This record gives sequence, C-alpha cells and structure tokens, in this order.
Amino acid sequence: MIFGRIKPLDAILATAEKKSLHRSLGAFQLTMLGIGAVIGTGIFVLTAEAAQKAGPGMMLSFVIAGFVCAVAALCYAEMSAMVPVSGSAYTYSYAVMGELIAWMVGWALILEYAVAAGAVSVGWSGYVVGLIENAFNMDIPDLLVRGPYDGGVINLPALGIALLVTWLLVIGTRESAIVNAALVCVKVAALTLFIILAVPVMKMENFTPFTPLGFAGVSAAAASIFFAYVGFDAVSTAAEETRNPQRNMPIGLIGSLGICTIFYLLVAAGVIGSVGAQPVSGPGGEALAPGSIELTRQCGAIGDTAVVCSKEALAWTLRSIGWPQIGNLIGLAAGLALPSVILMMMFGQTRIFFVMSRDGLLPQVFSKVHPKYHTPHVITILTGILVALFAAFFPVGKLADISNSGTLFAFAAVSIAVLVLRRTDPTRARPFRTPVIAFTAPVAILGCVYLFWSLGHETKMMFAGWAAIGLVVYFLYSRNHSFVGRGIIDVHEDDADVPPQPVPPLPGAHTPGGSDA
Ligand code: ALA
Repeated sequence: MIFGRIKPLDAILATAEKKSLHRSLGAFQLTMLGIGAVIGTGIFVLTAEAAQKAGPGMMLSFVIAGFVCAVAALCYAEMSAMVPVSGSAYTYSYAVMGELIAWMVGWALILEYAVAAGAVSVGWSGYVVGLIENAFNMDIPDLLVRGPYDGGVINLPALGIALLVTWLLVIGTRESAIVNAALVCVKVAALTLFIILAVPVMKMENFTPFTPLGFAGVSAAAASIFFAYVGFDAVSTAAEETRNPQRNMPIGLIGSLGICTIFYLLVAAGVIGSVGAQPVSGPGGEALAPGSIELTRQCGAIGDTAVVCSKEALAWTLRSIGWPQIGNLIGLAAGLALPSVILMMMFGQTRIFFVMSRDGLLPQVFSKVHPKYHTPHVITILTGILVALFAAFFPVGKLADISNSGTLFAFAAVSIAVLVLRRTDPTRARPFRTPVIAFTAPVAILGCVYLFWSLGHETKMMFAGWAAIGLVVYFLYSRNHSFVGRGIIDVHEDDADVPPQPVPPLPGAHTPGGSDA
C-alpha cells in the first residue's frame, strides 16, 4: 500500500517539543526574514523577461502571481504553525499524505531551491558585469559571462558566486539577523530610489497597447514572475523559533508578501512608464521567447535599445533616463544583496536534503556532519556543484521557470495537505486557521495549476522528466531504505549532531560523528 507510509504527526510534534529551541523571533523579524528571502532576481532581472512576454500587462502578471502566493501562504501558515518543524512542505506532506507524495514534494523542492539558487547567481552576474562595464568603461567578452543559450560559452561570474556561497556554507557561515536586516535595507532602499526616479517621468502612452500578446502573454509572464515571490516560505521554516507562532507566523508570511507586492507593482510601473516595455519582435514581426538565441540576435540588431534586452533591467532603466551613477548604485546594491538570497536558497536545500537523508530516503552519507564546522558538508558541496553548473550554463529565465514548476507543485501539495488534515484530524489544535478554507485552499490549488499550465512547454516537459527520475529513484532506492517503511519513526530532530537549522543559531553543543539510527 504505497500511500500507507505516514510519519505520525504526533511523533513529529513530540520531537519538536522535546527540542527546546529558543523562541526569539517576532512578527517584525519574520517579516524581515521573508523580505530578505523574497526580493531578488525576480524584480531586479526578470522584469525584462516579463515585459517580453506580456508588455505593460506584466503589471497584471505581478498581481496574479502575488494573489496565488497569498492564498498559498495562508495555507502554508496553518501548516507551519501547526507542525512547526524543519523540512517545510516535505515534512507536512509526510505527515498527511504519506511517503510517496512527500518524496515527490522533496524532489520538487530540489527544483525550488537548487535551481532557484542557480537563477539568482545568473541574475547577480548580469548586474555585476553591467556594473563593472559601466563604472570602469570596460567591455567584458560575452563568451565568458553568458551561458551557451544566451550568446556565450560559460557564465564565469555566476559559477564563481555559486562556489563562493558553497564555501561559506561549508565553513558554517549563517546570515545573522543583523546582516539580513542590513541587506533588506539595501534592497528596499534600491527599489525605493528606483521608484522615486522612474515614476515621475512616466508617460501614459507607454502603457498602450497594454497587452500586446493578449491574456496568454499575461499568464505566461505571471508564471515566470512568480519567481519574484518565491522564498516567502522560508518564513515557515523558522516556525520553531517563533514567539507566539499563531499570531506572528501569518503576519510574517502575509506581511512580507504584501510589502513585496506593493514594491513590485511600483517598480514595474516605473519601468513601463519611463522607458516603455513593449516586447521586441523578430524581423518578420513574430513574437520571440525570452532567453532565446533569436531574441539575443534581434537585440544585437537594434543595439540593445529595449529594456527586454537588458540583463540588469533596473540599472539599465535608470541609465536610460539620465541617471548613470544611480544606475551603477543599483547594480552595487544588487551585487551586495543577491548573494544572501543565494545563501538562503542553498541553505534551505541542504536542510531539506538533510531531513530526507535522516528519514532514510536519501543515502546516509548526505547527513554526515563535518567534525570541525558542524555543517552537513557532503550535501552542501554536492548542492553547490549542482547550483554552479546550472548557473554556468543556463539562462536566468529558464532556470527561474524550472524552479517555479517545482515550487508550484510543492505549494499545491501543502494546500491539499491542509484540506485533507481538516477532514482527517478536525480536532487537532490549530494555532492558526486558514480563513474560509473551503474557498482559500481550492483557489490556491487551482492557482498553482493555472500558473503551472502557463509555463512554457519545454519547462513542463522538464518537470515531467524530473518527476519521472524521482519516481525511479524512489522505487529503486528510497522505498527500501526508508526508516518509516522499516518501522522506525524517530524524527531525529533532537539528535546531537543535527547541524544548525534556519535562523537563529541552534543552541547546544554538537557531537561529531554521532550515529544514525
Ligand atoms: N524571490 C527570489 C528572487 O526573486 C527567489 O530572487
């Protein structure tokens, strides 16, 4: 019976209770954590991709993607407040829908976290290369700073930043609350400056035609720009260290999402209104896909005079409207702040791998902890190599879309889990209840399906391929090695050698080389 392997919720909760983590985070810190994880490549870079797909209609795309995230966040909040343990969507699914679904969710989370980290690395590279070229009047050859699908051979800066972040994670660097707060300020200041300079020079005629590629274009852009919101679920992983989670979790989730949406809409309006955001079409007037060789070629032909051609949309816009130095400053802000998004994504990935390995679904070597640094170094290095390869050879838009496919799957699974648990376990204490669940959860599920469907054909095929590989791995390896399957339901969360989980530092000493059950 493949759906029968459930990790009992009570066992998970008992372990979480045993482990007395210091509950130090309040609503404000959670919101900062959310904004820190969310604002990144999505708004700084993918605005150009969204414009290529939807033109000015990308404003609608931001609203649609933000709405789907909001309803999914409300479901996430019920789960994260009720099951405040690490592992996020993977753990929730294990408790509610069983091992196979949990495995598939964990497998999809690899796309969400590792591929997203690759996408943000490429986004970082675009800004840093643009900054160096403009500030020092240099011309860096495309061959070395773009992947093969983007008119180059290898994206060395993206590869480099991914490896640097990997090294930081191996030696146990964790972003302190203070560094996170400082970087949130840098990002918010950069976006605010952009809005202040771009909005006053908006021209209303730039908003027409509003949807040059119809509603299909708006939907396609929404599916891509969804990436700009990914990461708010990082808040849910901090549930264990949250004071009064019943109140603070939902505020943290919805608060960070709401603030980001407002910023995104103002920034998008600024880009469209000040420099125009009509898609660039081919020589015969045909629509060109973002990230395609044809678009790169056409951009070359028109001398990169459209925002959709830029790898650093916001800096480019400011330079075009007469603020070259501030454009560079935005580049600097992105250069400083985006690595923290990469760090959080890779950190999330290593912890998910870690939990899956602890459950026996992945080899035990993955949860090996470094004797000196107390970090899961094996899995961190493996994750880092994966991320670096993605970053070196794929364009940002493709990576973001693939990451979105995994995230949408995980969000839909969590929304289903909330509904199922209301039915199967109606009396369990729920510190936070999703409002009007009969409406919210189905809308979240349908929203995820709609956005998934609006992704490009190639992306959907890649997701299907990834899922198929996941199933093979499960039936060849994980199923036979699962602890739950072998009747062991220990959750391991209080083992002495568990490496630090997301913010803040895990108190207590580590015992190097502790054994696995
Ligand atoms: N939301 C994050 C970003 O836009 C992943 O970079």
